[in-house]
Amino acid sequence: MKAIEIRNKYLNFFKRHGHAVIPSAPLVPENDPSVLFTTAGMQPLVPYLLGEKHPAGNKLTDYQKCVRTVDIDDVGDNRHLTYFEMLGNWSLGAYFKEESIAMSFEFLTKELGIPVEKLSVTCFAGDEDCPRDDVAANCWKKVGLPEEKIYFFGKEDNWWIAGEEGPCGPDTEMFYDTGKEPCSENCNPSCGCGKYVEIWNNVFMEYYKDQNGYRKLEQQNVDTGLGLERMTMLLQGKETPFDTEIFAPIMEKLESLAKVSDIQSRRIVAEHLRSSMMIISDGAKPSNVDRGYVLRRLIRRMTRHLNKLQISLEELEGLINLTIDNALEMYPELEANRAMIVSTIVEEKDKFVKTLAHGEKEFEKALERAEAEGKNVIDGETIFKLYETYGFPPEVTEELAKENGFEIDASKFDELFKAHQEKSRLGSEQKFKGGLAEQNEITTAYHTATHLLHKALQIVLGEHAKQKGSNITVDRLRFDFSHPEKMTKEQLEEVEKIVNEKIAEDLPVTCQEMTLEEAKKSGATGLFENKYGDKVKVYSIGDFSKEICGGPHVTHTGELGHFKIKKEESSSAGVRRIKAILEK
Ligand code: SER
Repeated sequence: MKAIEIRNKYLNFFKRHGHAVIPSAPLVPENDPSVLFTTAGMQPLVPYLLGEKHPAGNKLTDYQKCVRTVDIDDVGDNRHLTYFEMLGNWSLGAYFKEESIAMSFEFLTKELGIPVEKLSVTCFAGDEDCPRDDVAANCWKKVGLPEEKIYFFGKEDNWWIAGEEGPCGPDTEMFYDTGKEPCSENCNPSCGCGKYVEIWNNVFMEYYKDQNGYRKLEQQNVDTGLGLERMTMLLQGKETPFDTEIFAPIMEKLESLAKVSDIQSRRIVAEHLRSSMMIISDGAKPSNVDRGYVLRRLIRRMTRHLNKLQISLEELEGLINLTIDNALEMYPELEANRAMIVSTIVEEKDKFVKTLAHGEKEFEKALERAEAEGKNVIDGETIFKLYETYGFPPEVTEELAKENGFEIDASKFDELFKAHQEKSRLGSEQKFKGGLAEQNEITTAYHTATHLLHKALQIVLGEHAKQKGSNITVDRLRFDFSHPEKMTKEQLEEVEKIVNEKIAEDLPVTCQEMTLEEAKKSGATGLFENKYGDKVKVYSIGDFSKEICGGPHVTHTGELGHFKIKKEESSSAGVRRIKAILEK
């Protein structure tokens, strides 16, 4: 079955079951600069999940174009994609677990013809926030799934929330058994060995999580998501999505053009061409920030792998057109945007080719420096600078170095690169959380500043100065703490001084997961009376501060800028309030 047939079957099935078919929202969220891309079908529906009335009714279905950039560096293996299509159906306070599970089961077994033996499911095992989902498990039994095919797992596996805050709830996930040998006696759908592949996720969204914990939503919703490329691959008995009709024509063309055989590079080119096409078609342009930068990286990486495959860049236009032709049946809107897609990618490739030239010059300089110092190694900092500033691939630096009889300090580069990757990973995750929870780089910096302030207050005023509340916006932090009297000017100056010293020291911010018990033992502060999950995150800022906290935080305090207290006032009896800002 082709992808488009699966999509049509899905939408028709849910239409027959009373759902309104709504259009895919654009990949680039409208009026929401804080979110990079649409990452799940539920994302454009958040207001309706929270109770607003949807004009099309309370049962909806759609296919949603999605981009997830967290895994960008993994593309090239046999499963990661940056662009994918998510099929979804929603109940906005209409049906709940029983109907949702019955419909999923019917669709999988009757419409797609998946034998029951191939299916297993997972349900939420229960914790202090929400009970074990026996209701969902019983629904699965009722439709005919044997008990031994029903597994229970905790929040890590069977709880869904977009980011840190927002509508959420327990979920039931459906898995397809590929028939591979079990990896161990304990092989199960959550073990990740590849025997079981997740195919569908039904979230029973009846909670809202914020800093104060979980509260029940007035409406019991269902939010489901089925990854189309993965389902297509499984139904066609293929090992990877690149073997399906979604990618096969472009993969074959690349193979015929390439002078070097490299399956990973072919996948990267095919995948990044497709995601760039979809992103450009929905209105983004390459740039140095946010979604434009993601697009830029996709195109540059694609170009670099064309080089690696020794495919002439003259071929690029033809490859883009082929990618568009191959996707037209699914996304007819691409035709109207064809010229824009081609010119945007080609122009960005041209720019990159120029930066490659600049990078080569920079490389020559580095070579001369090394020679002057009598070294035969290009240092990691230079390789990283070439990579970061000139978009210069480290493989190329290595090749050039070798041609000149030089080695490269790859381990130092890897270290710098990993730190950078972690930062951009955190960055993109924050951005994703952003739309739902108003978190971004600025609020993240304020979050870390709050930890420094907390500790500084305890040093200056004493242990009793404990956090009573915190509120962060992009403009300032606000921090409430217990203290009986107005702080003096000297005390305020001392607190500011300590915080700024710790910023100047550029202390690393690290995170460890541990149980609440271990966290208490390790001397971490935090709101212990709050309900946390089994494991808590403990953020340490050098040796200076250690707090239980959900994050996110900056990686180094040096990123914070200058800390300044704007106001100290009374909040309530025995509680003072500080408002402070970070100046860049
Ligand atoms: N929101 C859930 C997911 O992304 C179900 O659609 O998996």
